Amino acid sequence: MKESINLQIHPNPGIISDTMTQGIIILGSANSQGDTFKHAHYLSQLTGFPMLDLKTKNILPFDYEFKNQEDDFLDTFKEIVDNYNLLIFATPVYWYSMSGIMKIFFDRISDCLKIHKDSGRKLRGKKMAVLSAGYDRELKPGFHMPFIESAKYLGMTYVGDTHLAEEKSDLENQNAIHEFAQRLQPDTQGATP
Ligand SMILES: Cc1cc2nc3c(=O)[nH]c(=O)nc-3n(C[C@H](O)[C@H](O)[C@H](O)COP(=O)(O)O)c2cc1C
Repeated sequence: MKESINLQIHPNPGIISDTMTQGIIILGSANSQGDTFKHAHYLSQLTGFPMLDLKTKNILPFDYEFKNQEDDFLDTFKEIVDNYNLLIFATPVYWYSMSGIMKIFFDRISDCLKIHKDSGRKLRGKKMAVLSAGYDRELKPGFHMPFIESAKYLGMTYVGDTHLAEEKSDLENQNAIHEFAQRLQPDTQGATP
């Protein structure tokens, strides 16, 4: 697994379907080699979706005066919206929520609604899914709400989620990822962009 750590985007030959390469896994963990990475990497192997590690990017918090335009956000966002139709957000559960790194990325999408509107509009019609990794077997109610509502607001289709946990056995987690990978196949989803 180590060879992929330093790659910000690494292609991966899919074993389920070539057509699935239109997805991208956006990793938002504070640990580039941690549990979320491990699960996301397995999903990447199953689907052929590349993984983009937000921790390798310099993405600064949202600023009302848009002072952070020289960081990596816009290029990263464009890379995603110009090339992929399915965005899978892979986040650890930190304090019952998505990670801070992931939240900053979501906050910065506001840049694309205010000053980079051409890029922002490209989210419309795309699909969103969520992979979460926590200690607890069950997520607290409402964990997915920010994703579901953001997808709605952005004109995206929320196509599902999976939760992996330290409290679950390796086999349970693996089975959940397999099942998730199947659900992400284009012919099992609702709208096609
Ligand atoms: C700051 C912090 C907060 C956490 N909060 C929760 C939590 O609210 N619920 C939970 O189930 N696990 C929580 N955990 C455990 C992590 O979600 C779990 O260990 C996860 O597998 C870590 O993934 P990572 O290696 O990608 O960071 C927390 C861990 C950290 C470091």
